[in-house]
Amino acid sequence: MDITRRGGLSMLAGLAVAMGARGTAAAAPTGLQSLAGAKGLRLGSSFGWAAKGADRGSFANPAYAELLTRDCGLLVPENEMKWQALRPTPTSFAFAKFDAMMAWADANSLPVRGHNLLWHQPKWMPRWEETHDFGATPVRAAEQLLVEHITTVCQRYGTRIRSYDVVNEAVNPKDASLYQTALSRALGGPEPTLDLAFHTARRAAPHAQLVYNDYMSWEPGNATHRAGVLKLLEGFKARGVPVDAIGVQSHLVTQGVDARATITGLEGEWRRFLDAVTAMGYGLVVTELDVRDNNLPTDIAVRDRAVADFTRGYLDVMLAYPKLHDVLLWGMTDRYSWIEGFEPRKDKARRRPCPYDAGFKPKPMYAAIAGALAAAAPRS
Ligand code: XIL
Repeated sequence: MDITRRGGLSMLAGLAVAMGARGTAAAAPTGLQSLAGAKGLRLGSSFGWAAKGADRGSFANPAYAELLTRDCGLLVPENEMKWQALRPTPTSFAFAKFDAMMAWADANSLPVRGHNLLWHQPKWMPRWEETHDFGATPVRAAEQLLVEHITTVCQRYGTRIRSYDVVNEAVNPKDASLYQTALSRALGGPEPTLDLAFHTARRAAPHAQLVYNDYMSWEPGNATHRAGVLKLLEGFKARGVPVDAIGVQSHLVTQGVDARATITGLEGEWRRFLDAVTAMGYGLVVTELDVRDNNLPTDIAVRDRAVADFTRGYLDVMLAYPKLHDVLLWGMTDRYSWIEGFEPRKDKARRRPCPYDAGFKPKPMYAAIAGALAAAAPRS
C-alpha cells in the first residue's frame, strides 16, 4: 500500500498518528480508514471498472486507486454488479468487469460490498426484462429468473462478499407504494418478489449481511418516502424475511450556508426515523454518502464550508448509533462524481460533492469526515 502523503493531507497527519496507531510505534498510518479502524469502523467508497489508465473513478486509474488504498477499508462497485451490467440477456451473465474489480480489491486486501442484487424499478432493470416473455407459467418463470440471478452472483463471490444490498430503492417516494416491474407482475406482486430476493440471498450467502438500501433522507420532502420504507421494513419483520440492516444511501442536499441551523431543524424527525428502524432490530449502514451543494452561492469557499459542516453534523448523528459500523462514500473525488450529470447546479458551477476536489486535493469535507470518525465512540 502506498503511504506517501500529499502536501494537502499534512494537516491531518498529527490526527492520524494520534488516532490511528492504537498505541503502537508502527509507522504513522494516513487516511480516513486509519481513523475509522481505530474505532472499529470502516470507511469506504464506490469504485468502477475502466480501461487501464482511463481518466475515470476506477482502480485502473492510478490517481484514483491511490485514494482508494489510502483512505478506504471497504469498497462497493458503482455500477458493475447491477443487472444492467451483469445481464446482457435473460440467459447470460457478463462478469468480466466486476471480476477484474474483485481481483484488484483482493490484491489490495480491500473487502467489497455487493450492490445490488435487485434494483426494483423498471428504469433500472435491463431493457429486455421489461418486455420479457414469462410464458405459460409466469410465476415459476419469474421465480426462476430471480433465484438464478441471485444464486449465481452470490455463489460466484462466496465469502469474499460479506454484505449485499439485496434490494435497492423499491419504494416510490411520491406515494410510499412499492414499484412494479415486469418481473414482479409475473411473480405476483412486489412483496413476494422482494421477499424471495432476500430468502434467496440468505440461502446463497448465509455468511452475508443482507441490506435493504434506499435514499429516504432527512431533508424536507422525504417524509412520505421514510414512511414507505418503515412500512416495508415492518412488513419484512411480520413475514419473517431475512433482512439484517437498512442501507441509508445519504445523498445529502445542503439547505443553506448555516449548516448548524439546518441540522437543528432536521435532526429530530430524522432520529425518530432511525430510532424506529433500529427498534425493529435492523442495523444501519451509510452506503452512498455525497452532498449536493444546493441553496448555496457560487463561491467555492462558502460552498465547501457548508458541505463540510453539513457532512460533519450528519455523520455525528449517524455515528451516535452504535449499530452503524460502515460508512461508504459514493466516490472519492468531484472529478468523477455522478452528481454532475444527475443534477447540475443552476449556476453551471461544477459540483463539489466529494471529499477530494477535481484536482485530487482534499477539501474541508475530508477534514469533516476525519473529525467525525475521530470523535466517534469506539465500537465493541
Ligand atoms: C448511480 C451511478 O452513480 C451512476 O453512474 C449510474 O448512471 C446510475 O446509478 N442510488 C444507487 C446507486 O443505489 O446505484 C446510484 O448510482 C445512485 C443512487
